[in-house]
Amino acid sequence: MYLLTVIETEVPRRLLEYLSDVYGISGEVRSRFIILDGIFKEFDEIIKRYSNRIFFLKDKLESIEEIAEKLEGKVIRVQAYKNEEYYLDELSRIGIQLSPKEFTHILFIFKKYYGIFPKEFFLRKEFYKKVSKAYYKVYEAVRRFKIPLSKDWTVLDLGAAPGGWTQFFSERVRRVVSVDPAELKVTGKNIVHIKKKAEESLEEIEQYSPYDLIACDINDDPRNVSRLLLKISEFLKENGFLLMTIKLVYKSRKGAERLIRETVDILRDCYEIIGVKWLVTNSKNERCLFGKKV
Ligand SMILES: C[S@@+](CC[C@H](N)C(=O)[O-])C[C@H]1O[C@@H](n2cnc3c(N)ncnc32)[C@H](O)[C@@H]1O
Repeated sequence: MYLLTVIETEVPRRLLEYLSDVYGISGEVRSRFIILDGIFKEFDEIIKRYSNRIFFLKDKLESIEEIAEKLEGKVIRVQAYKNEEYYLDELSRIGIQLSPKEFTHILFIFKKYYGIFPKEFFLRKEFYKKVSKAYYKVYEAVRRFKIPLSKDWTVLDLGAAPGGWTQFFSERVRRVVSVDPAELKVTGKNIVHIKKKAEESLEEIEQYSPYDLIACDINDDPRNVSRLLLKISEFLKENGFLLMTIKLVYKSRKGAERLIRETVDILRDCYEIIGVKWLVTNSKNERCLFGKKV
C-alpha cells in the first residue's frame, strides 16, 4: 500500500517549506513536483493558489481492468499526469461512467500509481474576493510565524493601501490603524485610515497606541523603513510583534543578502528578530521578517 500526495507547482521548494511549517508534513521536491508521504485533505488558500494540480495516490497501477472493478457504480472524473486522453478512452471502452462535472469520484493517475477518492479531494480553485493579492501574504505570514492574533488586539498597518492587510486584520482584531497617503479600498467600523506618510503621522499613530502588532508593507528601501520602525516602536506594547516586508531593492543575491543583514542590524536596537522567510506569496524581490519588541 502506498499513500502519496503529488503536487505540481511553480514554487516547489517554498510550498514544501510552507507545508512543513504549517502542517508539519514532510516530503521531497522533484523538478516541479512535491511528493509528500501521506495524503492530506485540507486545501487552504495558499495550497489552492500555488498548486497547479494535486494527485492523491494510494496503490500501484497494475492494469485498467483492475481499476474497472473499483470504479463500478461511480461517476468518474479523471486526472492523469500525461496520457489523460488514453485513460479516458480506455475507461469508456470498458463501460465506466465518466463526467468532468457531475462526478462522484475522482481517479488520479500519476505515473505508476493511482488513487480513487470522493470528489471532496478535488482541488477547486475558487478564491474568496479580497481587495488585493497582498491579503494572502499576511494570511500566509500569520500561519507561518504562528502569530497569536486576538480579538482584543490593536494593529498598526503601515503602507496599507489598497488594503489587503487591513482587510485581513479587520476581520480578526478589535482595531486596525492604517497609514498610507494612497486611497484605501476597504472600509469598516474598526478601521482608521491616516491618509499620510508614516513619518508624518507620529502624533496620530500615538493617539491610537499602544499596539499589539506593527505590520509594515511600505515599498521603500528596508533600511529607511527600519529606522522609522525604531521610532514607532515606542508605540508598540512590550513584547508586541513586528511583521515587515523587506523589499529587496538590490537584485543580486549578494546585494540582497547584505540588505537583509543591514535591515536586521538596524532593527535589533529595539526588536528581537524571530525569523526572515521567503514566503510562497512573496515575489522574487521580497522577504518577510517577523520580530518582537525587546
Ligand atoms: C505594496 S503596497 C502595500 C500593499 C498593502 N499591504 C495591501 O495589503 O494592500 C505599498 C504601499 O506603501 C505605501 N507607502 C510608501 N511609502 C510610505 C510611507 N512613507 N508611509 C506610508 N505608506 C507608504 C505606498 O503608498 C503603497 O500603497
